[in-house]
Amino acid sequence: MSNDAILKIKDKEYSLPMIVGSEGETAIDTRKLRNQSGCITYDEGYGNTGSCQSDITFIDGEQGILRYRGYPIDELALKSDFIETTYLIIYGDLPTSEQRAEFARLLSANAHVHSGMIHLLEGYSRDAHPMAILSAMVNSLGCYDPHLATNDHKHDLENFSEASAVAISKVRTIAAVSYRVSKGLPVIYPKEGLSYCDNFLHMMFSEPNQDYVATPEVSHALNLLLLLHADHEQNCSTSTVRMVASSGANLSASTSAGICALWGPKHGGANMAVIKMLESIHAEGDDGSRFVEAAKTGKGGKRLMGFGHRVYKNFDPRAKIIGQACEKLLDSLGIEDPCLDIARHLESVALKDDYFIERKLYPNVDFYSGIVMRAIGIPLNMFTVMFAIGRMPGWIANWKEVASDPKGKIYRPRQIYTGPVKRDYVSIENR
Ligand code: ACO
Repeated sequence: MSNDAILKIKDKEYSLPMIVGSEGETAIDTRKLRNQSGCITYDEGYGNTGSCQSDITFIDGEQGILRYRGYPIDELALKSDFIETTYLIIYGDLPTSEQRAEFARLLSANAHVHSGMIHLLEGYSRDAHPMAILSAMVNSLGCYDPHLATNDHKHDLENFSEASAVAISKVRTIAAVSYRVSKGLPVIYPKEGLSYCDNFLHMMFSEPNQDYVATPEVSHALNLLLLLHADHEQNCSTSTVRMVASSGANLSASTSAGICALWGPKHGGANMAVIKMLESIHAEGDDGSRFVEAAKTGKGGKRLMGFGHRVYKNFDPRAKIIGQACEKLLDSLGIEDPCLDIARHLESVALKDDYFIERKLYPNVDFYSGIVMRAIGIPLNMFTVMFAIGRMPGWIANWKEVASDPKGKIYRPRQIYTGPVKRDYVSIENR
């Protein structure tokens, strides 16, 4: 008996093959349907469309499961760090100690950005948005580094180890330098011997005559934050990276497009919205209870920011981890942040409320990540930049999958045209 799905259109039946993933997920393969029947499938926003087969990340939104290359996110959060997880995501396996050392060497060797890029950064207006700068600068990496700029996937893949290390290492330097320049502060260069996260904090917060030294708790919190954002399957920005890569575009052009997609408030911008919401609740003297009621009516477009997720309908495993880390970080720094009290109260009220229970709305990763970033000293307008630094490994791994596919096709969805039917041109004097 065939395992194919049968689709009946009018009186004719079409047999469509089934695809089954390694975790048992199933898809109906409709690739030949248009040629056979003249019909396309319609799925605006791709909510029910598999656009690729991928070995990188598995999510089961109903069960609250997230795994990178098979490893559960909570285990990685507990036992790994951002750079080891980056290696895992990009190369598919945890590194041996030699591989880890070589990866660290490549990251250190590529930590500095070209002086031409510093000039570019200095040319931006002081109030330019850091995400605009980041996407432009990541694309510009290809103008200074031959490993990133060929638009020849065969050549790009031969230089992949170097190119991916350049992208991972320099995105952090660009973000920090961009911050320093926007504040009119002297640029602090990467320091040999510091870990990835400590070096970022050094470039952000050191002064020429005084080094910033991150506490182990701050260093751990930043590692965790980046690790939790490292990949998330076919979200808007990752799909964008794959789309751009499918045309044959190089790594810097493709990841730069991902940064642009992430910038939007419906995607990476939500972490800022949570802090703004918590601050406004505090300023109004509310403990969160009034806001929860308003969010239920949706009046004035109010929503409980940091709640709900398109995929997770039980809980977001990242939110649990970051929520606990947030409490520990603030304790270690002796910070009493009224926003954390409000967030805790909002969470406990909402989780008992029928409105949120019925709609399966739970805290997502953004609910506590903003409080963590604020405690570390990251300015609000850089929250989405931090998300981009964290997501870089996922974008790179997805770019590699597209570039490595020998039969890879350019991504090219269809549409249903709803505009005017054929009409005759009318000259301007007769209109
Ligand atoms: N607060 C109040 N009500 C909500 C919320 C919320 N945060 N989220 C969804 N709802 C309600 C909707 O009003 C709708 O109610 P209805 O059925 O009575 O009309 C129902 O729940 C379903 O909402 P949708 O918008 O259809 O759900 P969807 O899955 O499309 O949206 C989204 C998911 C965009 C994340 C949404 O929950 C939301 O806007 N949350 C707040 C923003 C946010 O935190 N975004 C970050 C997402 S995580 C990330 O990108 C890293």
